[in-house]
Amino acid sequence: MNSTTANAIEVQGLECRQGERTILHDVTFSVAPGELFFVIGGSGCGKSTLLKHLIGLLPVAAGRVAYFGRDFTSADPAARREMQKAFGVSYQYGALWSSMTLAENVALPLQEHTKLTAVERGEIVRWKLAQVGLGGCEDQYPSEVSGGMRKRAAIARALALDPQILFFDEPAAGLDPITARSLDRTILEIRDNLHTTMVIVSHELPSILGIADRAILLHRDVQGILAEGPPRRLLAESADPRVREFLAPEDVLAAPSSP
Ligand SMILES: Nc1ncnc2c1ncn2[C@@H]1O[C@H](COP(=O)(O)OP(=O)(O)O)[C@@H](O)[C@H]1O
Ligand SMILES: [Mg+2]
Repeated sequence: MNSTTANAIEVQGLECRQGERTILHDVTFSVAPGELFFVIGGSGCGKSTLLKHLIGLLPVAAGRVAYFGRDFTSADPAARREMQKAFGVSYQYGALWSSMTLAENVALPLQEHTKLTAVERGEIVRWKLAQVGLGGCEDQYPSEVSGGMRKRAAIARALALDPQILFFDEPAAGLDPITARSLDRTILEIRDNLHTTMVIVSHELPSILGIADRAILLHRDVQGILAEGPPRRLLAESADPRVREFLAPEDVLAAPSSP
């Protein structure tokens, strides 16, 4: 094993279930260190389900997931927990605690997982909030700031433990387009400054076409990966009507209906 050349994430033949129901078959892909990787597709195709399998929230039915050359799927529970400490996760509905300030929210993972003093935690929290454009907002409560600022604070919390890999489920959900684009720029900055590997679940075309290095497109028809590649290249080159339907919905709507 050589962790300097290994992929950040290696997924082989993964089968993802919700209860008894198979949602995705034979999912195989890899993510390079520092890559801004998207999991895309329409509502209900299994994006969140895949994410939960990747981070160990749902049990893997078949196949394997490895991080930086280390097998995650077959690791014992203690080793898995250790590996999970290198993940920063921001869930689709991952809310902040409303009774705590933004700084207190971001400090939580540090309190739980480190032996840092309050002063040391405060310094890290200020730096994490500054990284997401929230410098000076430490003492505000979630209800006092905008939806976009709450998303940023949730990202700062995911960054608290200096994760090697960040997982975001629909980071821009519910944001207006301008706020969403500014969040995209923040995500790019984090990747460029910290070289963090990122896996972003999204169905928002402006983000997908704007910032993704590469993506897998999931589709219900195939219960798995329908297409893989840089989204703009998929848009330019894919002949599959289902790929075009997702990446260029206006074209599909504007096209004359076939006889
Ligand atoms: N907790 C659950 N229990 C049972 N089925 C679920 C659960 N969560 C999601 N599903 C089903 O799994 C499929 C994929 O859902 P999901 O992964 O949430 O899709 P996406 O995130 O792409 O919108 C859907 O058919 C959904 O109904
Ligand atoms: Mg989802």
